[in-house]
Amino acid sequence: MEIKQTDHSVASMNHVVRCISCGEASGELAPDFRCAHCGDLLEVDFPKWSAEAPPDPVVLKSLWRERRTSNQPLDASGVWRFREVLPELDDWACAVTLREGNTPLYDLPRCARSAGVERLQAKHQGMNPTGSFKDTGMTTAISFARQERFHWVACASTGNTSASMAAYAARGGMRSLVVIPEGKIAWGKLSQSLDYGALTCQLRTDFDGCVRVLNDVIRRYPIYLLNSVNPYRLEGQKTAAIELLEQLDWQVPDHVVVPGGNLGNNSALGKAFLEMRRLGAVDSVPKISVIQAEGANPLYRTVHEKNGKELVPVEAETLATAIRIGNPASWKKSLRVIEATGGCVEQVSEAEIALAKAEIGADGVGCEPASAVTLAGLKKLVRSGFVRPTESVVLILTGHVLKDPEYTIKFHRGDLSVPRMADDAFRALTAEQRKSPVVLDANADAVLRALEAEDKRDG
Ligand code: F0G
Repeated sequence: MEIKQTDHSVASMNHVVRCISCGEASGELAPDFRCAHCGDLLEVDFPKWSAEAPPDPVVLKSLWRERRTSNQPLDASGVWRFREVLPELDDWACAVTLREGNTPLYDLPRCARSAGVERLQAKHQGMNPTGSFKDTGMTTAISFARQERFHWVACASTGNTSASMAAYAARGGMRSLVVIPEGKIAWGKLSQSLDYGALTCQLRTDFDGCVRVLNDVIRRYPIYLLNSVNPYRLEGQKTAAIELLEQLDWQVPDHVVVPGGNLGNNSALGKAFLEMRRLGAVDSVPKISVIQAEGANPLYRTVHEKNGKELVPVEAETLATAIRIGNPASWKKSLRVIEATGGCVEQVSEAEIALAKAEIGADGVGCEPASAVTLAGLKKLVRSGFVRPTESVVLILTGHVLKDPEYTIKFHRGDLSVPRMADDAFRALTAEQRKSPVVLDANADAVLRALEAEDKRDG
């Protein structure tokens, strides 16, 4: 394969790529996807929606639904079936798809009771091919990398982006470079990137340090960057919001609650809701609220200490390793979405996250720790009155429960230690949720005694 040496070009005619601050449109995209004039992030825009006849929302809705019965790979993808509102590839044969998207929307009745709302739903993005929402953005961005004939793609990651990138690179015939913080990656995620054949570099630093190193590498080697600063990532990720609306028969929920790490995902979902309103597919948008772990709360602090005017970076620490990020790239995009939709930012403790994760599991759904911040955050938003009990709420669950089995097993065995809470107090708080495995002699009497004890416990 020919190795690409120059900047990427904006190949397709259906969209432009613009700076979010100075508005300058870029014909050539720099390797770090930053604006050549002011260095801020870029985003995809569709000027034809304003200038000419925009796509008819009635036609779009029926076309998108119809495609669900098609076996063509692009239609079977829960991302590409929305291709009328995505940046266009010049050559559709470049699309790399693992049939991502099309994820379930579940009712969470027990979690609803525990949060104090009448009805609660979860859009489970962990049900994507590699077990996280990253696949929806990876299919779009990596297809552009392939169209531009890149040999290498790369990302810095807390584990899910890297797992996803490694899979899609392998499918697209590209090599992938994964840069992750040593010792702070859940095993499921690390094992994926190895199995999909990535060059996996574990650096002795955190996620923010990995980003710094990778930015240096891409300046010195022809590599296509697949972090969420890449605007094509967010375009794919936005389809989860469109799919959610479709699953709700285009009835807009009152609230959507999203975990916040590097802050790309909530920005992408918000962009989609606002675009659907712009096209007339819906009349309103849900309030999008972002939840961070207390130990990795730069957006929360930015809002509360600087009124959203300047980022407050933090030294991040949380057991929810997916969102262990102190210097989030997309903070401005995120704040714009929160403001435009009337949402808010909340933070939750490690104990609250662990409890919420077990509750989501007990509803038969399960998720990784970072996803559980949504339920933990919702409880606080109900208590503060921001969410009313009668309002409709959708949590975005971002990662599959099997991504981080170590956390789950430690929790249920009573071996999980959380910061800022004594182990005894944490064990007492979570006693009802914990289901420790019981080791028994190999006979039926022993198992029956365990059954009876459990029946008694259930009352
Ligand atoms: N939930 C999970 C499971 C994640 O993996 C991430 C981010 C987030 C939430 C936060 O999303 O960054 O868009 O605000 N994971 C990235 C990674 C950083 O490298 O896998 P965000």
